Amino acid sequence: MKKAMPVNQQQLGPNLTFYDLHPPATDMLEEVTRSLSAPRPHLHPKYFYNETGSRLFDAITATPEYYPTRTESALLTRYSDEIQDQLGGASTIAEPGAGSCQKVRLLLERWSPECYMPLEISRDCLLQATRELSRDFPGVQISAVCADYCQALSLPADKDPNGRVVFFPGSTIGNFEPAERQQFLRGLHQLAGPGGSLLIGADLHKDCATLHAAYNDAEGLTAAFNLNALHHINHELDCHFQVEQMRHLAFYNEQARRIEMHLECLCDQQLQLGENRLTLPAGTRIHTENSYKFTVEGFTRELINAGFTPRSCWTDPDNLFSLHLASY
Ligand code: AVI
Repeated sequence: MKKAMPVNQQQLGPNLTFYDLHPPATDMLEEVTRSLSAPRPHLHPKYFYNETGSRLFDAITATPEYYPTRTESALLTRYSDEIQDQLGGASTIAEPGAGSCQKVRLLLERWSPECYMPLEISRDCLLQATRELSRDFPGVQISAVCADYCQALSLPADKDPNGRVVFFPGSTIGNFEPAERQQFLRGLHQLAGPGGSLLIGADLHKDCATLHAAYNDAEGLTAAFNLNALHHINHELDCHFQVEQMRHLAFYNEQARRIEMHLECLCDQQLQLGENRLTLPAGTRIHTENSYKFTVEGFTRELINAGFTPRSCWTDPDNLFSLHLASY
């Protein structure tokens, strides 16, 4: 039997309710020590996202090279009426990892759902975003849920008897490893519930040059974003990374169909991790992110394997990005 989750519920405004599922705190020192001491040193991509990292990511999405965000927005703008027709109305939109809740604004404007349920681990980010949203959309009931992905996916679907439209844009699905991706898609299926649907963005496999440029922008914002993971852990753990002696690397691994981001040590890095010292010799690469790219057929198969029935897929004329609609 599932353990009941302690939920702290607060009414923050006439159309804003805040549910705190108390996401468990991770032991950052233990996790970072383990991943940097591994035979292939790595860091979880979540370390990109402190305040500076979120700002840098927003700036990346506006660079001429990073096509996913603007291509997906254009698809949503162009096809939102058609999507709504296929949904036959959407009473609740649920968005795991909603962040600043920017992308959903278009759907709230055009679909006027009864409820919007953003799920986000960062309490501050969730509170700020939903306070603004509740003022801008007084007709939408906002249920802001502070939770991590795994907790969020086990929210009972009976709260929304007609199911939920789960919105997962941005090709964030590409940042999961294949096995976790399958499990996560199954979780989204559960979150949608009977009668519900999934609207999800998936970046497409394409020529190496376009992909390489998207993760090596001329302004150096992606490099700064990658390096910021080290500033972040230096700040939290005081571990003495010499960040100016680290180099951003991003390349397309065509066989695995993924962009890989790494940070390469340009000198020996002597780290202090709590009580422990660790030396990463010059030339060591720390693997910081994978961003998988898909084919429409391959991603459709993954949706079917997770229990969904694919409904439609929209792509742009250059086949850069895909938007998939699937029902429970
Ligand atoms: C969040 N995620 C979908 C981005 C991506 O393209 O994989 C993260 C990113 N990494 C570098 N640039 C953007």
